[in-house]
Amino acid sequence: MNILTLRKKFLSPSLSLSYDKPIHITRGEGQYLYDVDGKRYLDAVNNIQHVGHCHPKIVEAAHEQNELLNVNTRYLDEKIIHYAQSLTEKLPDGLDVCFFTNSGSESNDLAIRIARSISNSKETIVLDSAYHGHLSSLIDLSPYKHNSKGGSGPPDFVHTVPLPDPFRGVYRGDNCSIDYINEVKKIIKIIKNKGNQLSAFFVEALMGCGGQIILPDGFLKESFKLVHEAGGICIADEVQIGFGRVGSNYWGFETCDVLPDIVTLGKSMGNGHPLSALVTTKEIAEKFNNGMEYFNSFGGNPVSCAIGQAVLDVIDNEELQKNARLVGDYLIKKLIALQSDYEFIGEVRGWGLFLGIEMINDVESLKPDKNAAKTIANEMKNSGVLISVDGPDHNVLKIKPPIIFNYENADELVFNFRSVLDKYYYA
Ligand SMILES: Cc1ncc(COP(=O)(O)O)c(C=O)c1O
Repeated sequence: MNILTLRKKFLSPSLSLSYDKPIHITRGEGQYLYDVDGKRYLDAVNNIQHVGHCHPKIVEAAHEQNELLNVNTRYLDEKIIHYAQSLTEKLPDGLDVCFFTNSGSESNDLAIRIARSISNSKETIVLDSAYHGHLSSLIDLSPYKHNSKGGSGPPDFVHTVPLPDPFRGVYRGDNCSIDYINEVKKIIKIIKNKGNQLSAFFVEALMGCGGQIILPDGFLKESFKLVHEAGGICIADEVQIGFGRVGSNYWGFETCDVLPDIVTLGKSMGNGHPLSALVTTKEIAEKFNNGMEYFNSFGGNPVSCAIGQAVLDVIDNEELQKNARLVGDYLIKKLIALQSDYEFIGEVRGWGLFLGIEMINDVESLKPDKNAAKTIANEMKNSGVLISVDGPDHNVLKIKPPIIFNYENADELVFNFRSVLDKYYYA
């Protein structure tokens, strides 16, 4: 039986495969993946393998610690303390207590638990089209899931702000921020009128599954202010955008000049190893310490911590945040330049190596072009460059490579993209 048939036989049918004709990858190195026939793909989509596939320093750190010891957090161990210290040093002052978990979903679920235990309330604000994880608690908080196929909408304690998308959102343009802020105000009023306390505002400062959205200027800063005034907790989901990807800053929320109460991390944190965390203030950690132990069998084990430390060191030693800024700026300029030749590229947006290309099929109405996006992603794959599609209308091409992506890689991506666009629109 071939691998696809076997996969269908033994794995859940709820798991999806990328591309019309799935690829069978057998090796990764840096920003490249190789399939079973030895074909090379430039990886412009795997944001988890943040510092590159099979980075030798990460492999070495995992191997060395695996040979030495792997236990849970109920014993004293330098690795976890050293790593927690290094991680908090990367965050603004005040965010200095770590909880270690094994996935972004687990971190976000823990954030919900902390916010609910402190506020004694479930009332939560989220942004439309957001995705915060696959646990039941997070499907509730993820319009991306609960409003799509198989979903049954939000529970009554989840309040959704319209997607703050200045390009195609319900409010548009340079001055739309105030309209989205007013939506937050409205929600806070509704919660108050019910006689309830606001628990939390869950947000990605740059939205991934929402379609690589850059929030309008001032929206997050003012929203955090309103939430704090209402006694709520601001939770920044950095699972996709943390660790230098945005180039200008180490964390995505810093691009919006805000200070969250809780930050949740994952994906890139372990470069593929299941390592994630929640970082918060001493005050919040103390309030949450109500006698119920936080125990996690795998979270914070020394192997994970050795890997996490190696990832932080590689980002610093190889100056990868700076690389994300320089190569990201170069790439976005080249992609924007394509707009003059291809009018159906509605918008190119992004920050560092977190970019989105919005495909439309009408320049007046900005009607989303799902088919174009899907075909282009498949054709790019055939050409040897991996990108993906997302957004509420499935029309945004996503570029989020390992942040070792270089100028030559950017040129290759743009060259192939132009050829694919020519074929799609003009052949
Ligand atoms: C923003 C965001 N938060 C949370 C998650 C969930 O992380 P995980 O898949 O590690 O559970 C994801 C996953 O895609 C995500 O994009």
